[in-house]
Amino acid sequence: MPSVFIKTYGCQMNERDSEAVAAQLVAKGYSLAASEAAADVVLLNTCSVRDFAEQKAINKMRNLLGTARSEKRDQIVGFMGCMAQSRGRELIDRLPDVDLVLGTQKFHRAAEYLDELLAGKRRQIVDIAAEAKSEAAIREHLLNGSAKTSVSAFVSIMQGCNQHCTFCIVPATRGAERSRTIPDIVAECRELVARGVKEITLLGQIVTSYGRREKSDAWQVSAGTNLTGELPTVPRQPSLTPFVQLLEAVHEIEGLERIRFTSPHPKGYGDDLVDAYARLPKLCECAHLPLQSGSDRMLKLMHRGYTREKFAGIIRKLRAARPGIGITTDIIVGFPGETEEDFEQTLSLCRAVEFDNAYIFKYSERRDTPAATMPDQVSVPVREERNQRLLELVNTLAARKYDAFIGRQVQILVEGPSRKNAARFTGRTRCNKIVLFDGGERHRGQLMDVRIERTGSFTLYGDPAVVNLSSP
Ligand code: 5AD
Repeated sequence: MPSVFIKTYGCQMNERDSEAVAAQLVAKGYSLAASEAAADVVLLNTCSVRDFAEQKAINKMRNLLGTARSEKRDQIVGFMGCMAQSRGRELIDRLPDVDLVLGTQKFHRAAEYLDELLAGKRRQIVDIAAEAKSEAAIREHLLNGSAKTSVSAFVSIMQGCNQHCTFCIVPATRGAERSRTIPDIVAECRELVARGVKEITLLGQIVTSYGRREKSDAWQVSAGTNLTGELPTVPRQPSLTPFVQLLEAVHEIEGLERIRFTSPHPKGYGDDLVDAYARLPKLCECAHLPLQSGSDRMLKLMHRGYTREKFAGIIRKLRAARPGIGITTDIIVGFPGETEEDFEQTLSLCRAVEFDNAYIFKYSERRDTPAATMPDQVSVPVREERNQRLLELVNTLAARKYDAFIGRQVQILVEGPSRKNAARFTGRTRCNKIVLFDGGERHRGQLMDVRIERTGSFTLYGDPAVVNLSSP
């Protein structure tokens, strides 16, 4: 049977999609190749959120085609995911030897199409059409594919985004919001827990909008509904947003220890979600709240739907509900029209909020987005300079946060050996910080306490001498 290598660009949703495609192919008898060079099929799962990500994937494909041609190999190569969706046939026009272009609603068709290509039945396939129910097709897992995924798994709960932030290409790559049902998601989570998973991260482009578009009774869990017979118990509050109803349903799964989710929208942090942090002990004390800008003027132009004061208020509420909550964010610098004063508003909000980490992005024009044609585009050197200044601030503030852990005991879930140094094991705190310690296979999958001895860049180091296993 053929072997496949999937290279993933971009976000955790893309990682999850790649895993589901890999699992689908393994189930059909494919093996997973250790490298691109050794593979019969190479798929690039692409990202479109910034131009840089697109260029990387295109260059990679050029190299693959160059190597295959020079070695006269008949490797099958394809693009899938966001760039495949947004560019479609245009990719073939640019790179005519690409065999497959598979859109974001077509991941579940990968095996069928590869079979046809490998058998020579078709020479080239482009499929980026919309497909009803495709949001429920990302469900197969590869628990043994990577050491880490056997303890912690990602579950895709929805696809698409209707927010239409003016900078963002995602509505064009992922389509409108479509949510899976609560029983379907819970069934997948249960299955994972039965296979040894202890931590689940619920995934979607805008998870706080989960279920808002679906009207059918079959979808929504209304007060007192018992979902599957085996599902419980506590009558649900019709006043809760569907996302909080989902959190409650997943929370009831026995054997599941930790729940996380990403990515939410700040406007989705209503009181019911803040309250969920206080009520649901398995919900880890961490939140990724994409800020994008600290300037109200920019937030309005970005179509974000909140002000800096509203954002800071959400963080205050979350910290009151869960002291010690780890808070991370995304920020764009150099959005069209951003002045020095606007940028300083972002700096001042970062100082006030003290994020645990912030992912900073230089604004990148995305075609067919409103921001791409806005006046006063910021020059590239200014974007670069603001990126540098913000990075320095964020790193300084984060280092202070990390240093505050020294001497403290924290609970970690051990994921496996560290990628960089196999003698070290790695786990995460509930507030989502990476902890390295001198561990061994016996620690894998354990929830345990370690004392933090020192810190590195966005890393905590735990002392194995004071490790207490919390379970046998
Ligand atoms: N330019 C720069 N960064 C962007 N992001 C989304 N679109 C763009 C763009 N056009 C960033 C946002 C988002 C993160 C995933 O990527 O900060 O939260």
